[in-house]
Amino acid sequence: MYLIETEDNIGFLTASYIKNRIKSFVSTKDNPYFVLALPTGGTAINLYGHLVKFYKEGLSFDKVVTFNLDEYVGLSENHPQSYHSFMFKNLFNHIKISKEQINILNGNAANLEQECTNYEEKMKKYGGIDLFIGGIGRNGHIAFNEPGSAFNSKTRVVDLTPNTISANARFFNDDISQVPTRALTMGLGTIMSAKEVIIMATGAKKSQALYHAFEDKQSTSWPVTVLQKHPRTFIIADKAAAAEISKTTKRDCGLCSFIN
Ligand code: GLP
Repeated sequence: MYLIETEDNIGFLTASYIKNRIKSFVSTKDNPYFVLALPTGGTAINLYGHLVKFYKEGLSFDKVVTFNLDEYVGLSENHPQSYHSFMFKNLFNHIKISKEQINILNGNAANLEQECTNYEEKMKKYGGIDLFIGGIGRNGHIAFNEPGSAFNSKTRVVDLTPNTISANARFFNDDISQVPTRALTMGLGTIMSAKEVIIMATGAKKSQALYHAFEDKQSTSWPVTVLQKHPRTFIIADKAAAAEISKTTKRDCGLCSFIN
């Protein structure tokens, strides 16, 4: 797991990395699509702005399939705060990509367990996730894998913690009672099987989670620590998010060589 502490625009760096990965992907008969796992959340908005800009400059998504990390249970797809709405508003409405290339968990499926199993199988059918992009919750959650999530967990139904519900209330007029209490999410095991992982972290509210990610031993109390054993994870953080990581922790610029 590498820390990239940067003053640069994290959304731009991450979008540049995605662009280069898509451009260098060689589509074959057996492996036609680059599989990109995509997040929601405030941190991702800036990223998508840059991806849309790259699309307008010529980046093609024709050989890309996307899988979103998570979705609320019981919120209609058209609700402005559903992750479906978020993705179309911030990315999919602005690039050329077909419905068949987009995968987002259906939080209103009649059989939620089956929906999760199907999602795992579909990812496998495409050869697994090539590049996983995520944010991080204040409590160290990745996607909606809350503290206590098993490190080998797969896509499943989860209960959200009071911490996450209150953090996400800002998107629901600060009204906690409007925030869904359950979600569907890729599991930590799903994430661990991705070939590459980038986690974006900005602001002081993420500093405690990053402290545990880099300075603490692995523990399900801090889901992000699962990535300590992932062979190719970059946590890209601004100064405020990286503030509690000791100066002796190895900073690496593995990402830099891949971007412009
Ligand atoms: C939500 C999402 C996560 C995301 C987190 C942080 O809980 N399910 O995938 O990482 O928010 O979001 P933000 O970037 O808004 O801090």
